Amino acid sequence: MTDTGRIDVAVFGAGRIGAIHAGNLARHPRARLRYVVDVHAPAAEALAARHGAAVAAAEEALADPAVGAVVIGSSTDTHADLILRSAAAGKAIFCEKPVDLDVERARACAEAVKRAGVTCMIGFQRRFDPTFAALKQRLDAGEIGKPELLVVTSRDPAPPPASYIARSGGVFKDMLIHDFDIFRWILGGEAVSIHATGGCPGLPDVEAAGDLSHTAVTLRTRDGALCQINTSRRAAYGYDQRFEVLGSGGLLQAGNVRPTEVVAWDAHSIRSDKPEAFFLERYRAAYALEIEHFFDALVNGAAVRTTIDDGVKALELAELATRSWREGKALECSI
Ligand SMILES: NC(=O)c1ccc[n+]([C@@H]2O[C@H](COP(=O)([O-])OP(=O)(O)OC[C@H]3O[C@@H](n4cnc5c(N)ncnc54)[C@H](O)[C@@H]3O)[C@@H](O)[C@H]2O)c1
Repeated sequence: MTDTGRIDVAVFGAGRIGAIHAGNLARHPRARLRYVVDVHAPAAEALAARHGAAVAAAEEALADPAVGAVVIGSSTDTHADLILRSAAAGKAIFCEKPVDLDVERARACAEAVKRAGVTCMIGFQRRFDPTFAALKQRLDAGEIGKPELLVVTSRDPAPPPASYIARSGGVFKDMLIHDFDIFRWILGGEAVSIHATGGCPGLPDVEAAGDLSHTAVTLRTRDGALCQINTSRRAAYGYDQRFEVLGSGGLLQAGNVRPTEVVAWDAHSIRSDKPEAFFLERYRAAYALEIEHFFDALVNGAAVRTTIDDGVKALELAELATRSWREGKALECSI
């Protein structure tokens, strides 16, 4: 921590999510963006200039004792290496999902973080979304009794380019990892069985890239609660993020968020805005709140709410889902 009471930070990755995190931590009263690190120099320079930070190489940022924390928002295949190096340098770590595409390597990162005794938070921002968090709070308060069935709907407006899909690790690790985290968070238990299926209706490019565009996953927890996750890489009406929990005493639903609440009524129809366009807009508040939580935890010496173990467990479910789909059968598991 600096003598101004702020924690100096290096951000890795100046792409879509790195820019969001850099903006949020530049606004945070207890953080100071010191370095931006990106192998693509123009991206690093533009983001650093926007926030009055310096551009640095990874070695330089990690060797600087003034840097107390790193925020890793670089491409997925860099996460594990940067977690290991940051932990070895004694830095607190915020890392985007997934920890890695390989479960063993992700577990090794979790071990290294524990050995180094550093904080490591994984960016499961949906837990910080005000609507989702309010549902969880009311569920925990017992408003609908014991949760029995969770239904998660997660649909993107349009599929990413084939080049992205080819390197994404597949839809279960790239996209559903968030939904697996919702499953663990909302039902508060681990899976004992998982069945995943999927296809590419109408999206041959996704199929040609060896991935799925549409999936349906069913999970069961140790105490018998059920979960159905349905996802699609394409929804003509936009980004669709909802879930509902059926409990012994009722139902809690968490729905989409719209840019405005204006509704137009006429003789033919009633129209409102579509949901927020995509994740950067839909989870704007959640991205700010998770970064706030990370720095509050560091300043107060408190535990973070989404740990590297949560990252590993969601990845384990994604790995099992991939296997279940490939083998065409349900799998028993103990996560
Ligand atoms: N939590 C979420 O909602 C969410 C949303 C988007 C992306 N993500 C995750 O964030 C990560 C980045 O995604 P994105 O959409 O911002 O990608 P992006 O392609 O827009 O940005 C990635 C950046 O990382 C840089 N980079 C690559 N190797 C690097 C290295 N060794 N050191 C430093 N920088 C390096 C690239 O040059 C690029 O600028 C991915 O792991 C993705 O899964 C999470």
